[in-house]
Amino acid sequence: MTTNPEKLDTLLSEDRAFAPSEAFKAKANFNDPGIYERAAADPEAYWAEQAQNLTWFEPFTKTLEWNPPHAKWYLNGKLNATYNLVDRHRVGERKNKAAIIWEGEPGDSKVFTYDMLGREVDKAAHMLKSLGVKKGDRVMIYLPMIPELPVAMMACAKIGAIHSVVFAGFSSASLKDRILDADAKLLITADAGWRRGNQVPLKNNADVAVEDTPIEKVLVVERIGKDSGATMQEGRDVFWHDLIKAAPSDPFPAEPMDAEDILYILYTSGTTGKPKGIVHTTGGYLVGANTSMRSVFDLKDDDIFWCSADIGWVTGHTYIVYGPLSAGATLVMYEGAPDFPDRDRFWEIIEKYGVTIFYTAPTSIRTFMKWGPQYVERHNLDSLRLMGTVGEPINPEAWMWYHEHVGHERCPIVDTWWQTETGSAMIAPLPGLVTTKPGSATRAVPGVAVDVVDENGDPVQPGAGGYLVITKPWPSMLRTIWRDDERFQKTYFGKYPSIYLPGDGAHLDEDRYLWILGRIDDVINVSGHRIGTMEVESALVDHKSVAEAAVIGRSHEIKGQAITAFVTLKEGISATDDLVTELKHHVVEKIGAMARPEEILFTAELPKTRSAKIMRRLLRDIAEGRAIGDTTTLADPSVIDMLKQQYSDKE
Ligand code: WT7
Repeated sequence: MTTNPEKLDTLLSEDRAFAPSEAFKAKANFNDPGIYERAAADPEAYWAEQAQNLTWFEPFTKTLEWNPPHAKWYLNGKLNATYNLVDRHRVGERKNKAAIIWEGEPGDSKVFTYDMLGREVDKAAHMLKSLGVKKGDRVMIYLPMIPELPVAMMACAKIGAIHSVVFAGFSSASLKDRILDADAKLLITADAGWRRGNQVPLKNNADVAVEDTPIEKVLVVERIGKDSGATMQEGRDVFWHDLIKAAPSDPFPAEPMDAEDILYILYTSGTTGKPKGIVHTTGGYLVGANTSMRSVFDLKDDDIFWCSADIGWVTGHTYIVYGPLSAGATLVMYEGAPDFPDRDRFWEIIEKYGVTIFYTAPTSIRTFMKWGPQYVERHNLDSLRLMGTVGEPINPEAWMWYHEHVGHERCPIVDTWWQTETGSAMIAPLPGLVTTKPGSATRAVPGVAVDVVDENGDPVQPGAGGYLVITKPWPSMLRTIWRDDERFQKTYFGKYPSIYLPGDGAHLDEDRYLWILGRIDDVINVSGHRIGTMEVESALVDHKSVAEAAVIGRSHEIKGQAITAFVTLKEGISATDDLVTELKHHVVEKIGAMARPEEILFTAELPKTRSAKIMRRLLRDIAEGRAIGDTTTLADPSVIDMLKQQYSDKE
């Protein structure tokens, strides 16, 4: 396990508990405690009932078909995701309700009512069709947080095309890998994006990425305009605004999709260097996203919901686009950084739009803590009634700070554990029913069966830790890895047949509350972003001066984990500070800024077993200043003393 035992002790000493207030409970969507037992007794009936909150063109005839590890949900049901997100709200009371309140980083803003959004999406769908996009085609989307991003996703879904959004912080090399894997013909990007007042050259990155790929057309949204420095390639590149102007204004008919037709592919990191294309399907994913809005987030029609994630990650897919819109919510979408122009930007947005439900990451909360409460205190946050966190374990101090300084001890906090693969929140308190403990994601949501097991797959007793598992299928689970079903089977169902292994360690306390301890594989979590150590290692050894590299995550006060790289250089190359800078830059070029190593240590030797396997566990011990674990399998034990010495000299 990557988690250190000291951390476990602090978790276990946590005895604060916060019960839902009577007032919150009385109004909560889910306030009957019997729901847990009923859903556990018959999960299929529970999920069949939740599915009735969607609009189906044809009803499903069977709720679940489970041929482990392959699940099919809502068999023979026909629906369209975009119809559920937008069109069905364009009639009746929600027609002129604000759907998206968008705030740009420079201070510009736009509001789309459901009716306006529907018209935008229809024009975009006509535009995509005119570019040759058909049902089942993959469309890559590499956009900043501008309204065209959700519009493009929904236009794809309306046609039945599969979108694959690549976070705009990824490098051109990462974008290219994903285009090739998805085998996409169309890329949607922008001339550039805004980040802390600087331009992110998306179109330039895209130009490099599409070389030698099947991409035939690049559709370019103009976010910055003339100053962006983007150039258009004749015959290949077209402007979004030109085609939108030319698009017919009549409604675009929603393609009736089978519940099991693919809605999107989203790439995430795993234990090998190659990212995994996580496949989500239309019916089950949408039921998971929609249900959790009503249960975990207690969404009501008059809420203003703000998830501060980027749509380039699954959190944004589910809790900016598919969840809130399918539930007919008003959502806030913000383009930029939390400290632009000042460190109170988030609180300013909450006050300005009267946000009632706010969802963010522990790493952001720790950053706000470091900045100090004065920025929060500048604003009136009385509109808030519920707050959430996601992405990594939240330390009790950060939880308490959030509770006191943002929620003014009034708002329940939902710590939501889930993954790109699970599609929607799996472990989280229902805020009207569950007493929370700072640092614990509490228990599985109704209809989801979670346990903590030992090496043999036997459930652990309260008070013990082990592997987190999900023992039954759930609607929004990934169906496979795009074009690599074998990897899907091996990664998630290889250890315990028929039981899903998320790759996290967990502790079960005496009240059966779950405490997520972090990844147990070679995946690290930097500021809530999942990064494979192998990906960073491959990027490092790709540099001409590097012979070998071993990458680990070490605990970090703000980021949760930080990347430390141990690097051996080729013969005759000297270890200089300039080379450190160059290597960090090389990783950013290869993957993206989120993968930039925090520290690089040059070493003559890496600790290896006699079968030449690098012992990352020992490197973690060194970087975290712990006693070194068992070294008996090391080929050359003296390497450890040398590394320890070098590491402490550096600090
Ligand atoms: C990994 C999934 C979908 C959430 C955004 C990240 C970690 C996520 C929590 C939480 C402790 C958490 C896990 C998980 N994680 N939420 N509330 N408490 N850990 O999605 O990139 O697919 O990463 O994030 O380690 O496996 P992702």
